[in-house]
Amino acid sequence: MCGIVGYNGYKPAVSILTEGLSHLEYRGYDSAGVALIHEGKLAVHKAAGKLSALEAKLDTALHLQTGTTGIGHTRWATHGLPEERNAHPHLSQDGKIAIVHNGIIENFQELKTELLAKGHHFISDTDTEVLAHLIEEEISSSSSICDGFAKALRRAHGAYAVVMLTSDRPDVLYAGRMSAPLLLGIGQNENFVASDVPAFLAHTRDVIFLEDYEIACIEKDAWKIFSLDGLSPLEKKVHHITWDMQSASKDGFPHFMIKEILEQPRVIKDCLAGRIIATPDRRQVTLNELNRLAFPSRLRIVGCGTSYHAGLWGQHLIEKLSGIPTAVEIASEFRYRDPLLCPDELVLAVSQSGETADTLAALRLAKTKGCQVIGLCNVVGSSIAREADIVLYTQAGPEISVASTKAMCSQMTLLSLLALFLGQEKNPSVYDDPFLEALIALPDQLSAALPEMQEYSARLAKRYSAAHNFYYLGRGQCYPLALEGALKLKEISYIHAEGYPAGEMKHGPIALIDHNFPTFALAMNDILFPKVESNIQEVLARQGQVIALVQNNNSMRPDLPVDDLWVLPSCHPVVSSFFALTAMQLFSYHVADYLGKDIDQPRNLAKSVTVE
Ligand code: G6P
Repeated sequence: MCGIVGYNGYKPAVSILTEGLSHLEYRGYDSAGVALIHEGKLAVHKAAGKLSALEAKLDTALHLQTGTTGIGHTRWATHGLPEERNAHPHLSQDGKIAIVHNGIIENFQELKTELLAKGHHFISDTDTEVLAHLIEEEISSSSSICDGFAKALRRAHGAYAVVMLTSDRPDVLYAGRMSAPLLLGIGQNENFVASDVPAFLAHTRDVIFLEDYEIACIEKDAWKIFSLDGLSPLEKKVHHITWDMQSASKDGFPHFMIKEILEQPRVIKDCLAGRIIATPDRRQVTLNELNRLAFPSRLRIVGCGTSYHAGLWGQHLIEKLSGIPTAVEIASEFRYRDPLLCPDELVLAVSQSGETADTLAALRLAKTKGCQVIGLCNVVGSSIAREADIVLYTQAGPEISVASTKAMCSQMTLLSLLALFLGQEKNPSVYDDPFLEALIALPDQLSAALPEMQEYSARLAKRYSAAHNFYYLGRGQCYPLALEGALKLKEISYIHAEGYPAGEMKHGPIALIDHNFPTFALAMNDILFPKVESNIQEVLARQGQVIALVQNNNSMRPDLPVDDLWVLPSCHPVVSSFFALTAMQLFSYHVADYLGKDIDQPRNLAKSVTVE
């Protein structure tokens, strides 16, 4: 989290930096700041809150327009309150060095003690300011700025990406990466460095991905990359980005979130494209990326947040269709519990951004244990995509809203294909069930249902927006969906919501039910429908309000007096999950909209969590 950007070129840097930061706000928006070279000196401007607060300040500081080199930052607070004093860029003691940083310097306290003893004073509570001072110290005893910069980074433990500007060499930006994303944008007589491609996509599509233990010296018409350890020069490949800014804009929608929810039929289609072939007997799945995959004895899925929920959803299907025992784990737990992994166990790291620190660490751990790792990612060229042995791209396009929607839909689509692919290896009858055909029909079916779902969810949202608590109940494959429904509601509306396996309610949670505590029950038309129906009865018997999500082919008992019966189209039981997911996303969106919340940038959250 935190977004960083740097520009070295011939245009006024301030507008390029703020424009870049506007595309990185999804990474954090607790404060923003820029540093530029003005009349040979560093000029730093910062503001607490969103980028708009900084922009308002910059409007009155027009002299800044002259600088053509600068760095910028949008913060997600880790060390220190989200106040202006803690906003980046941070300066060295002599004010000649400014840095922006994404990540955590884990040994900052130790370094700070050492620097305090040398007479350094700190203005902020951040680990970043300590790094700025450390760089100053190291440069003062080094043969070159680059050498001193590298020495300081070698002493900083943790995960970080950092960009430095110094008035002693105003023509160069220095950048370094350790487990947090950082890329160079290569232009004509101008170069960029940023946490993510959209920050400079309007200016260049040519990108170099920095790897861990690499540092870069970026001039306006040249760049050099070195290993952090020996400062030996490295050859790097320049990648060409093919997607455009159009797919990263709101396209007339009030929020990215609603745009992204409504894009889901297209996302499913794109995810299926090229992955289904027709044989003389039938259509079947082809995943070329997996051609060299050894059939695993077990599968371990790791992820965080929504991606973890997608993994839980996929587990049911993979076990059922392929017979491969599959476990799903929250990456932040997995990485620290010394998990037992056999070398022929396949690990699937699910991550939209491909940069989530815990998922990346879980991937690395699995590799040290000799396991093959598949990355299931959306962002092309992301760390997980690059470090996995095999990558399956979800093809969802840029997801900007902090609350993830279309990414989960694409992950579920790809997990469905993976389940069929692994299933067809061992089980020729896997296609006897019309699941694949239902999946192929899904984009059109979902697209046709969306207008009515939109309308219904908006009405329902109005009715329930005063609630302070919500249960989301589901069983089987609907349980992970219930978790996701609850997560979406709390993320963007700040209403407390819990997802539960419906059968578990009676073991404690039902104690909270009364007429003020509504329940969103997922009663899809699958074999567990009668069980869920009984669980709904149990809630109703305690005067709980119930919204029941059903399908028009299920036989919801007419005497079941639920408060709202939301009827979705009939379809294959597995495919019904995509309708249920969309319905809950729309409901959360409309509740948050009705309550006037900041939907695309909810408080305290960030889209890409590159710290642990
Ligand atoms: C953050 C986001 C969530 C996301 C999670 C995992 O918490 O706010 O929406 O699900 O990270 O992100 P990933 O990029 O690994 O899927």
